Amino acid sequence: DDQSARIAAIVAELRHLEGPMLPILHRVQQEFGFVPEAAKQVIANALNLSRAEVHGVITFYHDFRADPAGRHVLKLCRAEACQSMGCESLADKIKAKLGIDWHETTPDGAVTLEPVFCLGLCAQAPAAMLDGELHARLDEHCLSDILAEVRT
Ligand code: FES
Repeated sequence: DDQSARIAAIVAELRHLEGPMLPILHRVQQEFGFVPEAAKQVIANALNLSRAEVHGVITFYHDFRADPAGRHVLKLCRAEACQSMGCESLADKIKAKLGIDWHETTPDGAVTLEPVFCLGLCAQAPAAMLDGELHARLDEHCLSDILAEVRT
């Protein structure tokens, strides 16, 4: 089908690179917004690896998704500076409000929640990124605003 053909074309184009796995996975995700299940076998065959090895790489890197993302992607920083400023309790509140856990998408497809490890805003922790836009000094108030934005 069309999806397999596009995956095969990406693999054919990049398999000759040195260390082709990550470039291939990035391109596949760029093309589809996630790494489709079918891509694992195609990549495994081309690189002489097992499907499990490809799966292992995909799950090791936080950048790759196994499912399409929601319309909005909210990334919450969980690194040290943000932890010391209470990001974990903030994260718990967000999860409770959205009814999802890390790496999940709300059933209405509005938002995907992902952890991120330092956004370079440590001095203004806790920090988050919504659809590529940075938010600093998060508290419950900004949080409500952000959630209102993603729910529309
Ligand atoms: Fe969160 Fe650096 S630790 S922005």
